[in-house]
Amino acid sequence: MIKTPEALIPYIVALAALLAGLAWHVADLVPGLGRTIVSGQVAIGGPFHLTDQDGAPRSDADYRGRWMLIYFGYTHCPDVCPLTLSLMSDVMQRLGTRAARIAPIFITVDPARDTPKVMKDYVAAFGKNFIGLTGDAKSIASAEKEYRVAAIRHALPGGDYAMDHSSTIYLIDPGGKFVMDYDDSSKPDDIAADIAKRV
Ligand code: NI
Repeated sequence: MIKTPEALIPYIVALAALLAGLAWHVADLVPGLGRTIVSGQVAIGGPFHLTDQDGAPRSDADYRGRWMLIYFGYTHCPDVCPLTLSLMSDVMQRLGTRAARIAPIFITVDPARDTPKVMKDYVAAFGKNFIGLTGDAKSIASAEKEYRVAAIRHALPGGDYAMDHSSTIYLIDPGGKFVMDYDDSSKPDDIAADIAKRV
């Protein structure tokens, strides 16, 4: 029996999700430090209204006057997030006294599991100055949209789930404007040298 087009829809959706995942992974493998913003491109970054690891409301405006180094991920991530946050931690250490001008911020794409308490325990491992932000699903979705972050939940055997997500570190200036994004495969020395030129 020939399948109706409708019967193929779940397969097409699954294939599209797979290809999207591959596209993010390929983007991760592209060499180079990142890209600078080009006039006419869609703006990256913008307002967010979230909750920090101590349960306090935090918006992007709270960080005006400091640079922000922002990464989106989730605490259950098996490899990419802990590696990238370690990279950010290494970068902050290399920046020495300049590090005080930068707020390193981890925003979860998995707010259902990443409560303020979970975020507090997690970010502490990367440095006492690290900020962990969570929020309700709508606030997180809005922040993801502002930063062009893609995050899709996929089920794991046994009822658990993982989040497939894009993995980029964003540098935002003290006025709240996007300056640069860094590939998660960049070397800490290279990112620190680039930031030191600007900060
Ligand atoms: Ni991750």
